[in-house]
Amino acid sequence: MNVPLLDLKQQYASIKSEIDSAIAEVLESQHFILGPKVEQCERAIAAYSSCVHAVGVSSGSDALLVCLMAEDIGAGDEVITTPYTFFATAGAISRLGAIPKFVDIDPATYNIDPEQIEEKITPRTRAIIPVHLYGQMADMDPIMQIAKERGLVVIEDAAQAIGSEYNGRRSGSIGDYGCFSFFPSKNLGCAGDGGMVVTSDPKRAEKVRVIRAHGSKPKYYHKVVGGNFRLDALQAAIITAKLSHLDSWTARRQKNAKTYDRLIAESNLPIQRPKVVTNRHIFNQYVIRVADRDKVQAFLREKGVGTEVYYPVPMHLQECFVHLGYKKGDFPASETAANETLALPVYPEVSEEQVEYVVSSLTEFLSSLRSSAVMMHA
Ligand SMILES: Cc1ncc(COP(=O)(O)O)c(C=O)c1O
Repeated sequence: MNVPLLDLKQQYASIKSEIDSAIAEVLESQHFILGPKVEQCERAIAAYSSCVHAVGVSSGSDALLVCLMAEDIGAGDEVITTPYTFFATAGAISRLGAIPKFVDIDPATYNIDPEQIEEKITPRTRAIIPVHLYGQMADMDPIMQIAKERGLVVIEDAAQAIGSEYNGRRSGSIGDYGCFSFFPSKNLGCAGDGGMVVTSDPKRAEKVRVIRAHGSKPKYYHKVVGGNFRLDALQAAIITAKLSHLDSWTARRQKNAKTYDRLIAESNLPIQRPKVVTNRHIFNQYVIRVADRDKVQAFLREKGVGTEVYYPVPMHLQECFVHLGYKKGDFPASETAANETLALPVYPEVSEEQVEYVVSSLTEFLSSLRSSAVMMHA
């Protein structure tokens, strides 16, 4: 049996006529940059995220960047975030000359541990970027409390978490800004790169809008130095068309995650499962933790099961951040996660039979490891 980590062709086949007609409409209009399709998409994402404003941008990475730019964060400023994330989170901070200040994760959820934030705040700290990793929101109440007390801006990196909830509140709607990615592998993916900033603060929305278009308002009159961070109409039309399916796709991801949970629990094997502590985890990834992770991954590959390691090297140990002066051992929970995590196929079209096959392959491998360990001790 073959179980890829993700198969977008199945999704496209199921909604082909809707996507094709959305694309055809944009081609007929020949209106490719911003315009009504982007505005329609922005209204839909704002509503979906319980936010008042949404600004379409060129990617999730650029969404983070423009929020930091809108706050005039730059050289010497410090921004608190997690070292266990995709590079874009720390990269956006660093590109502006600001300094990422890392705070270790809670090993149960893989999200930033709010209890360790306070000690990292200095007079230069300007913002906190919690990342809602794998589709589960970070522990936002204590983060917002700290931010309020210390006058910090909160930018939610919700690139992996559109539609997820924390105490009934949608991702992107709790912080000062929320950032989404429409990279094809996300739960709501476009046909290239795309992103969105959401906020309920009209001044912040306006600033982001201006920065997205080279800082100009009106056209050719530049208030600030921005960039070309626009979302294009083709991507916007695809995102809008797909949005009506997102909740049913999410429900199928959640069902697959439940099946994994049940089968792994029944197997009695040494596999740690992700702890779900929020009310709506959207499972952009279903990630297990196992010792001998690389061997497990190689075995699953032989069995035709696609997996991925998100992420093998935490940010504080990346070569480009050597100048920040971190060393191995600084963030033990992130480092252990980097050695042990493995994402299994959880996309909506994965069948129950395929999930069973993945777990039986895992069982086959881990029980053979266990019996060879028993033999060595005998
Ligand atoms: C946590 C996180 N932040 C930011 C990004 C950046 O998004 P994009 O790939 O759309 O630039 C991603 C996506 O890969 C991500 O997973």
